[in-house]
Amino acid sequence: MSIRYMLDSSVSAKLLPFWILFSFFSESVSSGVVTLDSIVIFKTHEWLNAKPKVYFQCKGENKTELPDVKKVHVLYSFKGEESWQPLTELPDKKCKRCGFYEKDTIKSDDVFEQWEFCPSDFKAPHGKYARFKEKEFNATFSCVQCVTVNAVASNSDSHGRGRGMHIVLVILIISLVTTVLVLGAVVTYKYWQKKRREQEQARFLKLFEDGDDIEDELDLGTVI
Ligand SMILES: *[C@@H]1O[C@H](CO)[C@@H](O)[C@H](O)[C@H]1NC(C)=O
Ligand SMILES: *[C@@H]1O[C@H](CO)[C@@H](O)[C@H](O)[C@H]1NC(C)=O
Repeated sequence: MSIRYMLDSSVSAKLLPFWILFSFFSESVSSGVVTLDSIVIFKTHEWLNAKPKVYFQCKGENKTELPDVKKVHVLYSFKGEESWQPLTELPDKKCKRCGFYEKDTIKSDDVFEQWEFCPSDFKAPHGKYARFKEKEFNATFSCVQCVTVNAVASNSDSHGRGRGMHIVLVILIISLVTTVLVLGAVVTYKYWQKKRREQEQARFLKLFEDGDDIEDELDLGTVI
């Protein structure tokens, strides 16, 4: 077995535990369902059409129209079970770029606001989050799972599983470093051995040559 092959197979063997840990953690990822609790709009962007068509959208997802929201400065409250709810789902520890928009018949749609919608924005204990933009809107959202996901994640990070992870990681890193060091030592030793053998061979050959020289000299001596 060549050194290179040994290195390759030992590296892939070391990566296997990382891969197992990674798949374990990606499996524990869940997402939180976000609903709209209430909204007030402070203006409309359309002058021709008196009734605005307001919708919510996250990047890459479908539009969610808010069919009731037609008047400015009116507080619309929702139960979270309306036909168009929920607004979106937020994956664990990952934000989405979302916003409130208004359909525009002539130009491209108008933007109330677009922002990074993050699970960590939702506050315990009920998973509420308020978003307010002056002269545009004031909206409140609910996401109960976002809070529990955050709480579970931070609990396990600071306690048991987090520390276990650390120990496993430290052991893996130490064994990886040890393997590399041992392999390095073996390679260096082999190289040194080879060098020494070459040097010895060279010295041996030189000895022969020197011996020839001496013999030549001796021959010369006998001739003289
Ligand atoms: C988006 O809308 C299309 C068609 O209305 C539907 O087939 C699709 O499932 C929707 N996607 C999501 C993520 O709701
Ligand atoms: C936004 O609306 C919520 C709920 O109606 C209210 O509690 C909050 O004070 C409002 N915020 C602002 C800045 O108006």
